Amino acid sequence: MSDSPAEPAAFAFTAESAEQARAFIARYPIGRQQSAVMPLLDLAQRQEGWVSRAAIEAIADMLGMAPIQVEEVATFYTMYNRRPVGRFHVQICTNLPCMLRGSDAVLDSVRETLGIGIGETTADGLFTLSEAECLGACVNAPVIQINDDYYEDLDAASTRAVLEALGRGETPKTGSQTGRQTSCPAGGPTTLTSPAAATERA
Ligand code: FES
Repeated sequence: MSDSPAEPAAFAFTAESAEQARAFIARYPIGRQQSAVMPLLDLAQRQEGWVSRAAIEAIADMLGMAPIQVEEVATFYTMYNRRPVGRFHVQICTNLPCMLRGSDAVLDSVRETLGIGIGETTADGLFTLSEAECLGACVNAPVIQINDDYYEDLDAASTRAVLEALGRGETPKTGSQTGRQTSCPAGGPTTLTSPAAATERA
């Protein structure tokens, strides 16, 4: 990502997004329409891929807010991209539980597979790599988030497989990459291991 993204001169919601924006605003009492700022920022990002200065000004205008108030929200929450990102925004968690479970190897795998470092976008505009704070899925660490999907229980090989599948236009399996069910113990269930046992304890 460059230091100074090219800012579009203007922003307007599409007809569909504008209808959704009106629906979000209508959820709140008269005079409290500012409460819709977060979903409107999300709508703008889903439309444009990031939140530009022009989008911030358009949202501020819709909600009767000062642009700086919208900017404060957009810069506080890391889910809002204040710079353009690739089609796949790869956010790798390197917080403590993920680090203890191998996020260094996952990060190395992302770097080697994509040929980019943190904060960079591939030349074809397909992938952007970002470092994230805890993604809230520590129980299945290490974790990366790509757009709206989580990929969990990763290692170097499964990370490469996910990225290469996306690059080929495929839809890799989300969630645990080792096949464990949700956040079940990594080696499989340790209690209630048979229907009979479950019935006896019920
Ligand atoms: S520390 Fe990585 S998901 Fe929580």
